[in-house]
Amino acid sequence: MAMSPHAPAENPSTPSGYGFELVVQHTLERVRGDTSGELAGYIPELARVDPERFGISVVSVEGEVVSAGDAEVPFTIQSISKAFAFCLALEIAGRDKVLSRVGVEPSGDAFNAIVFDPHTNRPFNPMVNAGAITVSGLIAEELGADAFPMVLDRFSAAAGRSLSVDEAVYSSEAATGHRNRGIAHLLTSAGALVADVDATLDLYFRQCSILVTASDLARMGATLANIGENPLTGSAAFSVEAVRATLAVMFTCGMYNFAGNWAFDVGVPAKSGVGGGILGVVNRQLGIATYSPRLDAKGNSVRGIAAFRELAEELGLHLFDPTNRGSAMLTAFGR
Ligand code: DON
Repeated sequence: MAMSPHAPAENPSTPSGYGFELVVQHTLERVRGDTSGELAGYIPELARVDPERFGISVVSVEGEVVSAGDAEVPFTIQSISKAFAFCLALEIAGRDKVLSRVGVEPSGDAFNAIVFDPHTNRPFNPMVNAGAITVSGLIAEELGADAFPMVLDRFSAAAGRSLSVDEAVYSSEAATGHRNRGIAHLLTSAGALVADVDATLDLYFRQCSILVTASDLARMGATLANIGENPLTGSAAFSVEAVRATLAVMFTCGMYNFAGNWAFDVGVPAKSGVGGGILGVVNRQLGIATYSPRLDAKGNSVRGIAAFRELAEELGLHLFDPTNRGSAMLTAFGR
């Protein structure tokens, strides 16, 4: 089989013919030395994690799994939950109702900015806090007491195992999330949030505190790549329409005020969280996740961004790369 120009066999920094595992392993090793960035200190419990942890996991829609480093170390999903909550909200509240409360326009602002779209008086998109709190409010409005069990159930179906909440992080965030409380009250006054503020924030803080590993996240990403069906368990987690909408918003808004740079360099739908995770989805091909908790000034994992840049280059993952082969690489390497 002919190798793409991006195939490791032709990249001088990667030993030829060693396989997909070594592309992932070498990416981890090349990026590991970057110890810049800071832990998310604004949620006290997040400042207690081991800053040295670094893991990468890749899962294909054919069910192949390749991981390196600390891919089984648990951390809180944080803002990566916003993508999956949006996907669920589209299903249970419907597209029109969701879009009447939150836009799908990049804001160019920080994740916790207190700013609404001046034309609609609604949050710009579901990936920034204001939009995500609106989405949690919609789920709470539709499902009441069943809201969090449903969120946990669907996230677990996407991951292919039963996930749980880090109660210490949840309590820490609930006790200190004054800015998010402020945003929720402003959303109520703007008419974007209809559900009770406390119930909404409880759901939002809980969904952010769900514990995942990089390999869980890669499987969740592979579920999105596989248009809503977990490729390892065969269970359907999300509808095709909701997945398409979610990937579109991840592509334009998932990395906040870094989304343009990310689309330019990496070129796959993605979502980051202040817990240190980044999830990328190569449509119909791969879920890719990194975990490294030191963050840049925009709240994105430093080594996560570097690893995704390397992998996109090595494997030709960019959406507009003519050599994009994604999971076909696994076949090319004879797995
Ligand atoms: O709203 C918050 O502050 C957090 N629970 C989630 C923020 C987050 O992960 C932003 N991501 N980079």
